[in-house]
Amino acid sequence: MKTVFSGIQPSGTVTLGNYLGAMKHFVDMQEDNHCYFCIVDQHAITQPQERLKLRENIRNLAALYVAVGLNPKKAVLFVQSEVPAHAQLGWMMQCISYIGELERMTQFKDKSTGKEAVSASLLTYPPLMAADILLYGTDIVPVGEDQKQHLELTRNLAERFNNKYNNIFTVPEVQIPKEGARIMSLQEPTSKMSKSSPNPKSYISILDEPATIRKKIKSAVTDTEGTVRYDKENKPGVANLLTIYSACSGESISAVEERYRDKGYGDFKSDLAEIVVNTLSPIQEKYKELINSKELDQILDDGAERANTYATRMLHKAERAMGLGRRTR
Ligand code: TYM
Repeated sequence: MKTVFSGIQPSGTVTLGNYLGAMKHFVDMQEDNHCYFCIVDQHAITQPQERLKLRENIRNLAALYVAVGLNPKKAVLFVQSEVPAHAQLGWMMQCISYIGELERMTQFKDKSTGKEAVSASLLTYPPLMAADILLYGTDIVPVGEDQKQHLELTRNLAERFNNKYNNIFTVPEVQIPKEGARIMSLQEPTSKMSKSSPNPKSYISILDEPATIRKKIKSAVTDTEGTVRYDKENKPGVANLLTIYSACSGESISAVEERYRDKGYGDFKSDLAEIVVNTLSPIQEKYKELINSKELDQILDDGAERANTYATRMLHKAERAMGLGRRTR
């Protein structure tokens, strides 16, 4: 059995991009692996969050983890800040990171360029992410494409620590889905669909009502050519819609192209809207059942306990290797 770890920030509405790029694959992996899926609230505070909203987002994300099909008996579901070893190992990871390599992270550049005051944590975010992963002896990290560079850094930090101190960390493999790894904005199809976008028309939230989903897909940017054909370079809008169609339906892109060969964007978009509605409806129903239940707290309490047991053991190994503290734990 392999160990799997991944995380999602509770920093806004979970999007169809998060679902197709990450969550959907978490569900597939829980059967044959030891899985840890984390709500990374400490990552979320690298940007300003409103206190009550953050609380609400943490709970919403927990309910969504279960609603998409994660089974808390199989996978450990927990909140990052409830397992202190993450921040502790995160500090140690910062101590072996170089400022230069952190400044090269494209997400850091995107989030900091042109800003007047940039928090230090935006720069030191990737070492915390490395700690998240390395604490569990993780073999595989399922993520969307935008996390690839952070995963490469995690591998480098693991190897650096192993060579310098003691060979205690598993060097994890990244797993990026073939379809849906990078779902793009519906309004600007050359940038990724993002939960922090100020324009709600650019993303589909997992919890959007059917009418809203239909409206957003209808107004998605396409082009004037009028043929449903996959050409990422010249037809990024249509290519993105084809990717969403294929990832939701399980059909290949070429099969979808074939079906709409003699049809226009109108038919294609209205069918796509129904496919997305049908994909999200069962998740929304389950979510509504869960969101106010006591069961959710029970799941997260239990998850934090299980995660703490494993993570603390690994933290102590790392502290021993670096020579921290006075006693051998
Ligand atoms: P976050 O919260 O931005 O996104 C969560 C997951 O969703 C994927 N994703 C997408 N996939 C396809 N298309 C999109 N438009 C799209 N937008 C987001 C992301 O790739 C990710 O898999 N740093 C991470 C959270 C994190 C983490 C970790 C992940 C913290 N520690 C340890 C893995 C392992 C993040 O901000 O993801």
